[in-house]
Amino acid sequence: ALLRDRDRPLEGRTALVTSGPTHEPIDPVRYIANRSSGRQGHAIAAALARLGADVTLVSGPVTIPDPAGVTTVHVERAEEMRDAVLSRLPVDMAVMVAAVADWRVATSSDQKIKKQAGDAPAPLILTENPDILKTVGHHVKRPRVVVGFAAETQDIEENALRKLERKGADLIVANDVSPETGIMGGSRNRVKVLSPTGVEAWPDLTKDEVADRLARLIAERLAER
Ligand code: CTP
Ligand code: CA
Repeated sequence: ALLRDRDRPLEGRTALVTSGPTHEPIDPVRYIANRSSGRQGHAIAAALARLGADVTLVSGPVTIPDPAGVTTVHVERAEEMRDAVLSRLPVDMAVMVAAVADWRVATSSDQKIKKQAGDAPAPLILTENPDILKTVGHHVKRPRVVVGFAAETQDIEENALRKLERKGADLIVANDVSPETGIMGGSRNRVKVLSPTGVEAWPDLTKDEVADRLARLIAERLAER
């Protein structure tokens, strides 16, 4: 058997990570997006790289810098993120952390939409975006380890368990993103990690610590068999 360096257990392995929000244009100056700083996803990309993995990070629009030791690809929209991810398969592991906008505007305008004095605003017609995690989790080139996140404001475990099954993931990292938790945009995170065999509640940690712990867990999973 190949002996692996204890400090770099992911040497020779490839990883794909998504992070940040996506921006779905309404017109050239307006967009629909989820709230996401990209901090947790970027931290995970960096942590996997520190363990020796060859990491590609596909990032939506964020204000934080590209992580060190990682190849970063910048995208805007969910469809661009999907294309960037699928074009890089196969990989050994995929960690989908991006807060992908669930909907895009069905027909975005090439020109800035103008207000019409006295008129009611035109309704936005939305259409569903591709589910990148679900596509990767059921792909013929499915990575050995597929990890998703579940940002919830209620019924966290139930919702996360449903996502684990529906998306074909090995692990779902669930957190409570209710505004009063301060997790959104902050530097700390408190997560539960779900797998088909059970739930582990992790203590309140920094996003970097969550990233390190998750990277170690993924390395253990890849070492199995
Ligand atoms: N995800 C994705 N592509 C999407 C939507 C979500 O890859 N279009 C991924 C996220 O990166 C995350 C996981 O799926 O890893 C869960 O995202 P979440 O928004 O919590 O789940 P949804 O399936 O979109 O369900 P909902 O927003 O209705 O809770
Ligand atoms: Ca969603």
